[in-house]
Amino acid sequence: MATGFLTDIATAENGGIATITIQLPGKVNKINAEFGVGLSAAWDEVMGGAARGVLIVSGHKDFCVGADLDTIFGVTDPAAILDLVRMLDGLFRRIETSGIPVACVLAGSALGGGFELAMACHHRVVVDSPRVSLGLPEVNLGVIPGAGGTQRLPRLIGVQAALDLMLQGKLVRGNKAVVAGLAHEAAPTPEAAVALARAWLAATKPKSDAAKQPWDRSDYAWPGLSPNSADGRNVFMAASAMVYKKTAGAFPAADAILAVVQEGARLNFDGGTLVEARAFARLATSGQAKDMMRTFWYQRTAAEKQEGLPVAPADPGIRKVAVLGAGMMGAGLAAICAQAGYTVVLRDVAQSALNAGMAHVVKGIGERLKHKSAEERATVIGRVTASSEISDLDGTDLVIEAVFENADLKHRVIREVEARLGARAIFASNTSALPITGLAEASVRPEQFIGLHFFSPVEQMPLLEIIRGRATTEETVARCLAFCRAIGKLPIVVNDGYGFYTTRVFSAYILEGAQCVAEGYDPVLVEWAARVAGMVVPPLQVFDEVTLRLGDHALSQAEAFRPGIAGLAGAKLVKAMVEAGRIGRAQGGGFYEYKDGRREGIWPGVAAFCAPRVAGDAVAQVRALSERLLLAQVAETLRAWDERIVTRPQDADVGAVFGIGFAPNTGGPLAYVDRHGAAAVRARLVELASTLGARFAPSPGWASTIVPFYG
Ligand code: NAI
Repeated sequence: MATGFLTDIATAENGGIATITIQLPGKVNKINAEFGVGLSAAWDEVMGGAARGVLIVSGHKDFCVGADLDTIFGVTDPAAILDLVRMLDGLFRRIETSGIPVACVLAGSALGGGFELAMACHHRVVVDSPRVSLGLPEVNLGVIPGAGGTQRLPRLIGVQAALDLMLQGKLVRGNKAVVAGLAHEAAPTPEAAVALARAWLAATKPKSDAAKQPWDRSDYAWPGLSPNSADGRNVFMAASAMVYKKTAGAFPAADAILAVVQEGARLNFDGGTLVEARAFARLATSGQAKDMMRTFWYQRTAAEKQEGLPVAPADPGIRKVAVLGAGMMGAGLAAICAQAGYTVVLRDVAQSALNAGMAHVVKGIGERLKHKSAEERATVIGRVTASSEISDLDGTDLVIEAVFENADLKHRVIREVEARLGARAIFASNTSALPITGLAEASVRPEQFIGLHFFSPVEQMPLLEIIRGRATTEETVARCLAFCRAIGKLPIVVNDGYGFYTTRVFSAYILEGAQCVAEGYDPVLVEWAARVAGMVVPPLQVFDEVTLRLGDHALSQAEAFRPGIAGLAGAKLVKAMVEAGRIGRAQGGGFYEYKDGRREGIWPGVAAFCAPRVAGDAVAQVRALSERLLLAQVAETLRAWDERIVTRPQDADVGAVFGIGFAPNTGGPLAYVDRHGAAAVRARLVELASTLGARFAPSPGWASTIVPFYG
């Protein structure tokens, strides 16, 4: 018997129902060549008996988490990948066309190839729980489903619904799976699910229509619109426009999903899977997929596990958290802390801010916990006390300061609040740029002073940038890492300096956007170029969100650390815009105009502050601007590396991608350097520095100190 597959052959006692239990060595079932060989052998074994039905279950918590990325990541030969997926295609097809009814029980998640196997079964019973996830998230790693997913899912739930799930890599929860058409039945427990699956098998005759896939029946009709009808073809046309709008062509996997679904719909089933397999092999061996796997799988997982970081104590002694400032950040922070079980005091000096902050907490928790009972929601909300009374801070274990970004104010607040704290309490600042060591000068115990830099909106953004001040102890870092784990954030730990890591890179990005506009490039092209590069949000749009006033203020502060920066044309443009009252979105308008809260076009007045419009080919301009917007950030990352602000490549990439929306298609600024080669990037930066200015100059030490990930 194959390792990892337990078989229970059909007998009179089990009613002729054979069982295959997938339980690969280790904690999870993952799909690779051994999986295919093992499942194939197990299938042959149960078919050797007189089975009238087959049940497929998992011996692990999850059904199957999808492809074994270790297998795919290292392969650069498309032919090798093609062999693997064609083997799976053949096996899954053998299972679904055997004439024997096959049911599976999804007691835990079935993702990617795991869900593709489930779809090759005739009957799926899921456990009715939000903790079970089903779906095809491949696009998020730069690939497409490769074991028949692009062919089975549209035939199962219709083209539109299938595209909606696959193009966004959306997962469906167990309790929604039946309604979504991904499972036939749901049961409250794994045992009840097995009973339902067995009952279905007992009632289903071999060779009956129910023991065939819908698409193998003579009376098959596509759910919803047929992709080959005129209306069906319109679905693809609309979808491809939507994909281009969303991806700007930077994510070829999304285009491939569309193409493969449409082409496959015109072929027979086996023809469809062959088209899919070829596209999968091409994408899985592409640099982009490797770079995305590197950051979104390997490095993200390492960050989640806090690998290589100070070991978080099991009990960091944090029960009560005080959040100072009930503004945009403070209110969100209070909410996530309460959700994680902490007792929270939300303090502000303005009653109006406290009211608005509490309203935000109540609304947010209400929405995020809508699947819980009213009582449970009330308990979580009840953990937060809004107060302007300093005495309410007594007994606080962790303070997170989120008052206005002003060093003098922060110093005052630190002195005032620290006086009330116990000896072990940690004081953290959520400043987005002010050096932690400088803030800690107001602290009587700088060793317990630290930066905890969250991102807006706090509830959604996964990253937490933890900043060590000069005196911050490893114990303080470790306790904050335990807190970070409790609130479910992804940590990077960096050293101190103006803007630490993420704010520096982010500032370089939006400043470069403004600089391009000031030089006379069409703002629309600048925004589009950022999207073409893969950036999640274009620079002028994001400038309006954070406000040009903040940008102007930060640039004048940064002048002390980076002489000359405030003199750049982009910095002058931002200042002129602020003086003209163009502050940002919330203030009525910045680079863009807004109507009823909706972003309209670029404000026509911008041109008056810029050089005459640059003439020339728009396509060539977009190409050059895309590179420029990325390389401005790469150059800044390399400087931060040389200054030892960031000391591990994975922190640089995870921080940029998850904190500030750096082009996910590249895997991050250092992944970009690896992909293009350090020497080539350096040469290009030297060229750009000579034409565009010193901000592009490659920092001297990095090439010899960053160990390339790909070896
Ligand atoms: P905000 O302006 O929305 O809120 C600041 C709040 O602090 C106001 O409600 C104000 O009344 C209150 N406050 C002022 N003095 C106070 C005092 N002595 N005690 C208690 N409360 C006081 O500001 P926001 O955007 O929430 O930012 C707060 C901090 O977080 C800043 O340091 C900012 O740089 C940082 N940050 C902001 C991000 C953002 O996207 N807005 C992202 C990451 C960090």
